[in-house]
Amino acid sequence: LNYLVPKSRKYIVETLMDGLQRLEYRGYDSAGIAFDGGNEIPLSDSAKLPCLVVRQKGKVNDLRKAVDCLQGTNWDLEFETHAGIAHTRWATHGEPSAHNSHPQRSDENNEFVVVHNGIINNYKDLKSFLISKGYKFESETDTEVVVKLIKYLYEKHKAQGDKLTFQDLVELVIAQLEGAFSFLFKSIHFPGELAASRRGSPLLIGVKCESQLATNHIPIVFSKGAEAEFRGGLVQSPMIRPETNSEAEFHPLGANKKIEYFFASDASAVIEHTNQVIFLEDDDVAVVRDGCLTIHRIKRGDVNEPSHREIHELFLEIQQIMKGNYKYFMQKEIFEQPESVFNTMRGRVNFEKSQVVLGGLKDYIAEIRRCRRLIFIACGTSYHSAVATRQLLEELSELPVMVELASDFLDRNTPVFRDDVCVFISQSGETADTILALRYCKQRGALIVGITNTVGSSISRESHCGIHINAGPEIGVASTKAYTSQFLSLVMFALVMSEDSLSKKQRREEIISALKDLPNQIKKVLELDDTILELSKELYTEKSLLIMGRGFNYATCLEGALKVKELTYMHSEGILAGELKHGPLAMVDPTMPIVMVLMDDPVKLKCLNAYQQVAARGGNPIMICNENDDVGELTSKTIKIPKTVDCLQGILSVIPMQLLSFHIAVLRGYDVDCPRNLAKSVTVV
Ligand code: G6P
Repeated sequence: LNYLVPKSRKYIVETLMDGLQRLEYRGYDSAGIAFDGGNEIPLSDSAKLPCLVVRQKGKVNDLRKAVDCLQGTNWDLEFETHAGIAHTRWATHGEPSAHNSHPQRSDENNEFVVVHNGIINNYKDLKSFLISKGYKFESETDTEVVVKLIKYLYEKHKAQGDKLTFQDLVELVIAQLEGAFSFLFKSIHFPGELAASRRGSPLLIGVKCESQLATNHIPIVFSKGAEAEFRGGLVQSPMIRPETNSEAEFHPLGANKKIEYFFASDASAVIEHTNQVIFLEDDDVAVVRDGCLTIHRIKRGDVNEPSHREIHELFLEIQQIMKGNYKYFMQKEIFEQPESVFNTMRGRVNFEKSQVVLGGLKDYIAEIRRCRRLIFIACGTSYHSAVATRQLLEELSELPVMVELASDFLDRNTPVFRDDVCVFISQSGETADTILALRYCKQRGALIVGITNTVGSSISRESHCGIHINAGPEIGVASTKAYTSQFLSLVMFALVMSEDSLSKKQRREEIISALKDLPNQIKKVLELDDTILELSKELYTEKSLLIMGRGFNYATCLEGALKVKELTYMHSEGILAGELKHGPLAMVDPTMPIVMVLMDDPVKLKCLNAYQQVAARGGNPIMICNENDDVGELTSKTIKIPKTVDCLQGILSVIPMQLLSFHIAVLRGYDVDCPRNLAKSVTVV
């Protein structure tokens, strides 16, 4: 940060804490912060300030308390330039604890500190090497090798008389690493500087300037240097030296200006400061020095390699990432669905002409229609949106449709062909399993379609074309409004696929006219909140919940069970009603809690068979059914929702399950926005 006016240490720490709070949904088992210590600003530029590191198990608020307790710190001390880093963790290597939290440090003096999002796959080799060089490790994290390695390289080159910059060192470090990362480094050897890099994990830079920026891009400084080679434990990489790149060297961002830079995993942490952001690409090294930002890359000789990074303007409002009058983000997001669903359709569905236009697919739709197969690939809730719409996609496209979990798709080395169309669905656009599957399919020549909720995310950037679901930021870890908007985006995709087909005209019109009523019907479902709360009171002490249905509503059972598991930690299973008799029926007795999703649609009679099988064993399920349908008479425990066309019914039937799992979790006393052990965006495989 290079302050517009000198800022107090208190301001700096609070800015970092507030940013962490916004990012807490990405991980929340521990948190940490590093900032300049000392109670006087040294007069000479080269003098070093100590680096203070505070780390705490628990949530960001626990870290705030730990920082508040720091004795003898002058909080009013003002800085003209300062680089601070902070992190909230979702544990991969090493249990949640203070010593496993980030920033990780090179030594007891905190000479180098780093925060990391991702996984270093070759950390064991690097760790053995560093141990052989006398380094002692204090955590179980993979990240600690990175910060020890930068210190090792610093010492080694210093001993050789090489004068390396912070950026040189980070380039040398990342050349040694296998895996996924985004890093922020700080060092007492480079006062006021910040160095950052990413590969696989997201990283953006918010730029806040005292006046209009003179440019909308930042040139890249290319370094020459060969790729590193691996030799038994540590890569021996040749020295990398910047090439002259006059434009970049003479025009770094921030020269003669006062600018604050905010490096973060996603925009929600920076939007209250600025809406101008730069998205870093894999292997970029960004450095802030003397208040100027430069972006560096090792030149790979690819003529198509862009020579600059754009500064994008984000259209995100701070209110969108606040809770408003709701107690939880998840609750707010459930109740936002009438609007989020409307926003997904806005400007795309023309109800008068019965037409759907998806601008992001326009240039590719003819090619998509000619494909051999449509393969939908995703994880978690996003996967369920593809399960929910598969039948309609098959019906309207008349193509073979595969629906795949990203991790399994990769495990199987699934054959992919040049004439396949692979559709990647991801709320965050950053899920590592999904990104890896995307790259796998892209390498095999398939056309890549991305369906995400996050502008500028890795998946939206790496796709050939796509649909932005426009649901607005989703903060609650358990996905709700993103699911209904993904569902709807896939329905619109199916409608576009069948645009030319005369035989499908009537069906298309029926669906498009039903879309118009959807926001109002969602409102009606939300009015059932009190009824659902009462049913939750009967369920919240139970150990297990089975959710059964079939056809267009099978996905509601899977998604409902996922919500119950995520939020209430109760066992729950979504069961295809047709499979009941092939096994799950053995679990049914008068005490087993069951929800049946039984809609007035083409599989109603088959669903009733499942109901009878359950009732015959003394089961007394809660039934989610249509208003005015006679099946509602079968039981006293009903959730009656409006009827829509069969293929859209799942959008309405999932909402009671969202509310049910929400209420059960609250009744059990759990934090619904931050369920234990989970993270919103899983950027590791
Ligand atoms: C994580 C989240 C889930 C989410 C899944 C896929 O596991 O906890 O809620 O459904 O990732 O996320 P994506 O951002 O790719 O939709």
